[in-house]
Amino acid sequence: MSFVNIIEKKRYGCELSDEEIRSWIKGITDGSIPDYQTSALLMAIVLNGMNAREMTTLTMEMADSGSKLDLSFCEGIPVDKHSTGGVGDKITPLLLPLLATFGVQSVKLSGRGLGFTGGTIDKFESIVGFNTSVAVEDFPKQISEIGMVLSGQTPDLAPADKILYALRDVTGTVDSIPLIASSIMSKKIAGGAKALVLDVTCGSGAFMKTRDRAEELARAMIDIGKLAGIKTVAVVTDMDQPLGRTCGNTLEMQEVMEILTGKGSEDVVKVCVTLAVNLIKLAGKDGGLNDEELYAECERRLTSGDALAQFITFVSAQGGSITMRGPEYRELPHEALRVTSPVEGYVKSIRTDKIGSISVELGAGRKAKTDTIDYGAGICFYAKVGDKVRRGDVICSLCHGISRNVSEDLLFDLMSEVMDCYEYSEEPVEKNDAVIMVLD
Ligand code: URA
Repeated sequence: MSFVNIIEKKRYGCELSDEEIRSWIKGITDGSIPDYQTSALLMAIVLNGMNAREMTTLTMEMADSGSKLDLSFCEGIPVDKHSTGGVGDKITPLLLPLLATFGVQSVKLSGRGLGFTGGTIDKFESIVGFNTSVAVEDFPKQISEIGMVLSGQTPDLAPADKILYALRDVTGTVDSIPLIASSIMSKKIAGGAKALVLDVTCGSGAFMKTRDRAEELARAMIDIGKLAGIKTVAVVTDMDQPLGRTCGNTLEMQEVMEILTGKGSEDVVKVCVTLAVNLIKLAGKDGGLNDEELYAECERRLTSGDALAQFITFVSAQGGSITMRGPEYRELPHEALRVTSPVEGYVKSIRTDKIGSISVELGAGRKAKTDTIDYGAGICFYAKVGDKVRRGDVICSLCHGISRNVSEDLLFDLMSEVMDCYEYSEEPVEKNDAVIMVLD
């Protein structure tokens, strides 16, 4: 069958055979299928979907399109975590050290910021000297010494996903459950972990805007995980407001230090501990504690110094400059402009995708791949959903690097955009629950 027939088949809403999906992925990997034909098929998939079998075949073919990591050097069950993206998400720098305190080993391959969402690699690169390109040959030594490794994606891991993702980004075909599920799970399968927790974000700052969509995506990925022999749990988390008190690279690493020393915000602790509990159980390292006891023990270790000691060891092992007082940053934040509430009332909602874009405008992320980041840029949040504010109270502040100049005009434009992101109510508003549901 010619590729045009395959596109037409999906356009008419028919199922693609395993062989057709296989030839598509082979064709994009060896370059024999041009981008315009793949783009047409992607759009047909967005419009007509894929069933579970098609989605699983697509995932497996993408996972097999390059090399796979063999994590057999890990002791016990190697674990992994993935977030579908958000604003202010600083979970990975907290989770890996916390897991290490339970002897749970993890090789985490992370990405840079994408669109309005931040990226773990950029956050760690705010620390002077931190190496985000650990060679695969060095993973076993670091795992045996400290139980965790963090590195950027290796280029030959699921290369078909890289090609597809770049095309989806420019053809309006990102937002599709089969395409998102196969993209994420192909990388996780190729990454070699045997237990996985998915943080499926939900709300205005996430790909999935509603709980139903988030649950559908979560279930699709759990099903793929099962078929691939990976124990998978999904935690649907709130992204209808930024997570924690900051977004931006240095700002978020500073917040990580606050949490590790017991001064952090509850929502970050709750998400991190929920993910940790599930991973520790999947890895069989719960030491006989029941769920409640394990939750309390994770919370204690996260906030009372145990995870901090692991974090310092980890940052040093990857070349980062750090002492007991915290990391040395490439650029410190300067709080350039405080944004105040124009009304008295309760914060009802925060347009989180717009907040993320404003943070990128300040310099915390890239608009083009070649842009350089201002590690000190970002936003601090002083009022979140449910908080009572008076007219003139500071709701958030805009930051840029202490050694950078940002024009007042830009700052004032961004201030007015940030003000538009906040919606208020005269009536009390319930606070958002950071963890919406856990699915397995
Ligand atoms: N993250 C991914 O890795 N892939 C997607 O398609 C969406 C989010």
